[in-house]
Formats: sequence, structure tokens, C-alpha cells
Amino acid sequence: MAGVVLDKVNKQYDNGFHAVRDLDLDIADGEFLVLVGPSGCGKSTALRMVAGLEDISSGVLRIGDRVVNTLSPKDRDIAMVFQSYALYPHMTVAQNIAYGLRIRRMPKDEIARRVQRAATMLELGPLLDRRPSRLSGGQRQRVAMGRAIVRDPQVFLMDEPLSNLDAKLRVQMRAEIATVQQDLNVTTIYVTHDQVEAMTMGDRVALMKNGVLQQVGNPQHVYDHPDNIFVAGFIGSPPMNMALATLALDGDDLHLHLGSTVLRLHPGVLAARPRLREYAGRELAAGLRSEDMEDARLVPDAPRDARIAATTTLIEALGSQLVVHFNLDAPPVVTEDTRLLAEDAKTADLPAAASASSPASAATRFVAAFAPRSRVRLGEHIEVVVDTKRMHFFDPETGAAIRD
Ligand SMILES: Nc1ncnc2c1ncn2[C@@H]1O[C@H](COP(=O)(O)OP(=O)(O)OP(=O)(O)O)[C@@H](O)[C@H]1O
Ligand SMILES: [Mg+2]
Repeated sequence: MAGVVLDKVNKQYDNGFHAVRDLDLDIADGEFLVLVGPSGCGKSTALRMVAGLEDISSGVLRIGDRVVNTLSPKDRDIAMVFQSYALYPHMTVAQNIAYGLRIRRMPKDEIARRVQRAATMLELGPLLDRRPSRLSGGQRQRVAMGRAIVRDPQVFLMDEPLSNLDAKLRVQMRAEIATVQQDLNVTTIYVTHDQVEAMTMGDRVALMKNGVLQQVGNPQHVYDHPDNIFVAGFIGSPPMNMALATLALDGDDLHLHLGSTVLRLHPGVLAARPRLREYAGRELAAGLRSEDMEDARLVPDAPRDARIAATTTLIEALGSQLVVHFNLDAPPVVTEDTRLLAEDAKTADLPAAASASSPASAATRFVAAFAPRSRVRLGEHIEVVVDTKRMHFFDPETGAAIRD
């Protein structure tokens, strides 16, 4: 068993493109780290450097206590699982799983033992004699996992292994991979652009943007305490609502002007973030997660001065919650980060980050999650209660969270 350490690792491709910049990661022995970020941010490049499939331009890579920068892939004791599983069509499942061991001339009975163990773990036992053409997508993916497992490597490297599967199967395989990883306790780096996989699968999540690591930590911590606007907008579905707001300080009372709405912030907000005083009279980016809003009719004792008057423009009943859209007459936050997020949402087919319908308008779409007991209707004028203690504040210039 071994951890993986990247120390100021850089990748500059031959054409001069700097795909990974000063990447520092310290992945503990047995840890499951998810590397996430929009398309082109350098995830696969980083993973391929760990695998030895791509040269490291500068920096140090350690697996266990060995520096492996110049070691060939086969000497690194890693096993990779890719998006395309590339099974051999003329071999059975058992032969496919065993292939890597056979070419290493492992004794037959040891091969049989390992194949059996992997097959049991992945519930492939009844399928061992089948050929890949007679397997479902999920079963093929499991065979690919099996091939990696029998190698008994120090490190698993997985690059979007589930992206070819349909949504339902992805949910199931997500749980299976996480379970297998826990059982084997093998250090794993898992690349995805799917923030739900990032939230649910790993011990920690590392988010990259344009080759630069933005934040790394426990998924819930990153969700609750995003370091900047990019992280806030990327982690979470629907994405965090964000709008430009102005802060006013009356003694120790903070008021947030969000378009025509004025929210009195809970006293705990300023106590926790004294630096907000510096923003009095200035603009900042205010963030609000959908679950931190509720239909005011369901919260009888909700403070009168923490409400947004809204007209609903779309209601999505998900059963467990009502997803309620409305427009806020506050300007959207438009930075390089929000543009990148909107671009990424388009390619990933996700709901776009809260943004203006047109750049000229000063309206921002907000998305709230109400309890299904709310009988809110489309086009209805309602009041939305905001849990101001759970609001997020960012410097609109740097994008950095204001939290001390
Ligand atoms: N051989 C190469 N030469 C030059 N640039 C490259 C090369 N391979 C990748 N790149 C560029 O490096 C950047 C990072 O690519 P990479 O494949 O690591 O992204 P990714 O985060 O894995 O994206 P995706 O989610 O689309 O798989 C991209 O802008 C890509 O165009
Ligand atoms: Mg990739």
C-alpha cells in the first residue's frame, strides 16, 4: 500500500500549452480522491502523469516512498480504468480479467484465485464464460474494474469510467466502485467532470480550473465552505445562486441590498466574518444555496426582514422537493469564472449557473428548493425566507470568499 504525492507538478505540452500548473496533492494511503473540474482543466493530464503515460515537465511525483518521475508505467504498480473499457472481443470475461496477469507469467492457480476473488466482489461469477458482446454496458465496466483489481496494485487511477453508462447505471456503479474501493482500501485517484460523482464518491475532492487546483477537501466541507466563486458555482446541483449586492452597516447591523430586496443579516454573520465591515457601502457577490430558502408560509416565525418577494417563473416537482425559479432584480455576478461555469454547464448539459437572461438586464434567476408541502403555483407572488446565516460572500474582483 502507498500514498501518492504530487509536489509542484507541471505539465507543459510540446506546443507550449501549460496544462497543469504547480499541482500539489498529498493523497493518503487508502484514500479515495476525486479530481474534478470542467472539460479541459487538466484532469486527465494530471492522472496520466501519475500513470506515467505523460512526461512530467517539472515537479516531483512520489508513490509510496519512491520518486517515480522517470519510472515506466509498468514499474509504478498502478492500474488504470478508462472510460472506454477496450475488452478483447474474442476472449471470455475470465480471460479478459486474467489477461494482464498471464502476460506477466503469473502461475495459473494464482491467476485463477485472483480472478475468482474479483468476480465475487463484482458479482461477475455467472458471467465468467461469456464474451463481451453479450454483456451490458455496466457488466463491461465491471470487467474493466476486474482487470484492474486482479493486478493488486498500490494505486487505482480511473478516468471517467462511468461516462459511457446511462444515468441509472451510473448511479449504481458509482456506489459499487466506492464499495469495492473501501473493501480493497487501495489508494485511488478518480477523475470526473460530474460534480455529483465528486460529492458522493470520494473521501476528498480536488477541484481544478485551467490547470490550477482551486480547493481540496472533504466534499461536504467544500460544498459548505467554497473558497471562491468558481468552487461555489461548480460544486452543487443546482449551482449556488449568486447576485451582486451592496452591504450597509448600521452599528452592528448588516443590511444586504439585493436589487429592491433588503435582507437584515443575522448577527452571527458579522461575528463570524468581521472582515465584512470592510465591504460596507461596497458591492460584493452574495451566494445562496437553494436549500437555504423556503416558502415563507411554511415558516410562521420567520423574520420579516429576511424575505424576498418573488414571482415564480418555473416550478419543478421532484417529489422530495419543489424546485422553484424566480427572478431577482439584482445584477448577476459576471466574472471570468461565471462565464467558464456557464460554458461548462452547456457542454455538460446541466442547469446553467444562475445568470442573467441577457447581459443588459439587471435580473438574476434564482432557484430555491421548497418542501413539497408548499403548494406554490406557477406565476404566484410569494415570499421566500432566506436563512441569512448560511449565505456566502465573495469579493467581486478576486472571487475569493470573505470568511474571516
Ligand atoms: N498532447 C497535447 N498537446 C497539447 N495540448 C494538449 C495535449 N493533450 C491535452 N492538451 C490540452 O491540455 C488541456 C487539458 O487537457 P486534459 O485532457 O487534461 O483535460 P481534462 O480536464 O481531462 O478534460 P475532459 O474533461 O474534457 O476530459 C486541454 O486544453 C487540452 O486541449
Ligand atoms: Mg479528461
